[in-house]
Amino acid sequence: VPISRPLVKLSKVTLRAATSTSLDGHVVQIDDVIGGVVGVLNDSFEGSYTAMDAMVTPASNLKFGDYQCNAAMKLAKPLKMKPRDVASILVEQLKEKMAGDFEELEIAGPGFINMKLQRSYLERAVQTMASDNDRLGIPKSSDPKRVVVDFSSPNIAKEMHVGHLRSTIIGDTLANLLEFKGHSVLRLNHVGDWGTQFGMLVEHLKDEFPAALSGESVDLGNLVVLYKAAKKRFDEDDDFKVRAREGVVRLQSGDEESLAAWRCLCEASRKEYDKIYKLLSIKGLEERGESFYNDMLKDVVEDLEGQGLARESEGAMAVFLDGYANKDGSPLPLLVKKSDGGFNYATTDLAAIRQRAQVEKADRVLYVTDSGQAQHFKMVFEAAKLAGLREDGVSLEHVPFGLVQGEDGKKFATRSGDTVKLMDLLQESIRIASNDVGGREVEGWEDGQELPEEFKRTAEIVGISAVKYADLSMNRESNYKFSYGRMLSLQGNTAPYMLYARARICSIVKKASGIEGVEEGGMTWPEPAPVVLGEEAEIELARQLVKFGDILYDVEKELYPNRLCDYLFETSQKFSAFYESCSVIKAETEELKASRLTLAVTTAKVLTKGLGLLGIEVVDRL
Ligand code: ARG
Repeated sequence: VPISRPLVKLSKVTLRAATSTSLDGHVVQIDDVIGGVVGVLNDSFEGSYTAMDAMVTPASNLKFGDYQCNAAMKLAKPLKMKPRDVASILVEQLKEKMAGDFEELEIAGPGFINMKLQRSYLERAVQTMASDNDRLGIPKSSDPKRVVVDFSSPNIAKEMHVGHLRSTIIGDTLANLLEFKGHSVLRLNHVGDWGTQFGMLVEHLKDEFPAALSGESVDLGNLVVLYKAAKKRFDEDDDFKVRAREGVVRLQSGDEESLAAWRCLCEASRKEYDKIYKLLSIKGLEERGESFYNDMLKDVVEDLEGQGLARESEGAMAVFLDGYANKDGSPLPLLVKKSDGGFNYATTDLAAIRQRAQVEKADRVLYVTDSGQAQHFKMVFEAAKLAGLREDGVSLEHVPFGLVQGEDGKKFATRSGDTVKLMDLLQESIRIASNDVGGREVEGWEDGQELPEEFKRTAEIVGISAVKYADLSMNRESNYKFSYGRMLSLQGNTAPYMLYARARICSIVKKASGIEGVEEGGMTWPEPAPVVLGEEAEIELARQLVKFGDILYDVEKELYPNRLCDYLFETSQKFSAFYESCSVIKAETEELKASRLTLAVTTAKVLTKGLGLLGIEVVDRL
């Protein structure tokens, strides 16, 4: 098939000239080229090309080259061509467009294309990465979006639990990464600060802390105890139950005293979770709880009713969607209004979708919660679509995660069976890290002893990073067993190992270059030198380094931070292999020494940047 027409623009895929040192990730560039070819081969090609773009993947085995592409097989049918014919056209185009990047492209088996990066490309690319402190040569997305990341989202007057911790850690990482890729990110904390439970809480405050009603700031003591006491009264005292029910109505209709008591509760909770955010270095998270959408709820329900989507069901209002059933086969309703007139969790989410799409102009909204809420979000997204609460282009994505379990695989709890307090959990990790750091760094150190100031911060970073990294390095959809021993180990894919590996590379650079200074902030890196790749281990390391952009692109799309962790771990292993077989300080020539130093510097920068995106601060010594 002769290609005579100019390459055309396809839905969502814009063709860009692939410059040979652009590190946007080859997956993107190859995709672009293929997209163009498809458009040329068949104008009427149906189906979204981007929906299939998992067709290019970094090769599972470097033997087959750096990338593998199965586009020819997938496209053969819709193009009504033979896979190998499609493959050879793709190869022609890839050669033309990406001539500087790849060696001979090989068609294997039924039509796979194996692609191997050229050595000269690797040499140029590593040098580009080393010369760019901020971005390591990785350009911002050519298609920047407005992204809302809804994460953390604890509930007022209730304990923030490990599920909220996972949401906070994963959500923060995704937001960091999307921001780095040039998207405009809005981090929202969808705090549970509204709803029926506030009736009983506010009424209880009226009796126990009357000062809270006048807007004074009052110390409410332990909020969990307070919540339990209010709940006990609600369950046992019928008069109080009536009061609580009326209390919700008063609060929701804007009664000043009730609002003051409610604010007092929110303030007290906020103080608690802000401590956690501070320890975790969570920044830029805007609190926009359920109450924010209160005024919009009535409208949403009327809209749903008006469109015939919501109807009455046992006194309440509900949306019935096709394909959702209870265990007994009866239709499963999505409740939007209770029989007492109150609104539901789903109503708020529907209103939030409208607000985020229409006012915030979001193109993409991510919801980071446990998988237990999968059905809720599926139903809410579907209802929002039917009701036209968002435009078709807006992508609503639930980012689910599994449970945190105890080391025995059972429920994660303290020895006495109580739920684990987040603050205690984080402090325990820091305590163990202090012992580790103390034992290594301080002469005559004894368990539990106060650490000298200079090591205190290190211990805090190690303790917090260990918790974060343990979470992020697991496929988020699986459950994982919480183990201080494993997460704080210096061996394996852990934060202490990664921090150590990075610090070691920095000290190698320092020693070999004779340049003194601190790595972060003040490190003067040696000038990036021309890279010459000769030894196998050097080439392998370079091939790994230039994939950084691909990995970020993958996480940006698929939202699995563990893939970044795996990549960083492999990178540090490739570095070790390189360092074992190639002498840096005693390299045969000055040029070779400078080249190897550049490889080391690039590795250190990749690790620093990667860990930074994971919300992990690095340390200079460990
Ligand atoms: N507060 C909820 C919980 O603790 C999570 C909220 C998630 N976000 C949302 N828009 N529904 O389970």
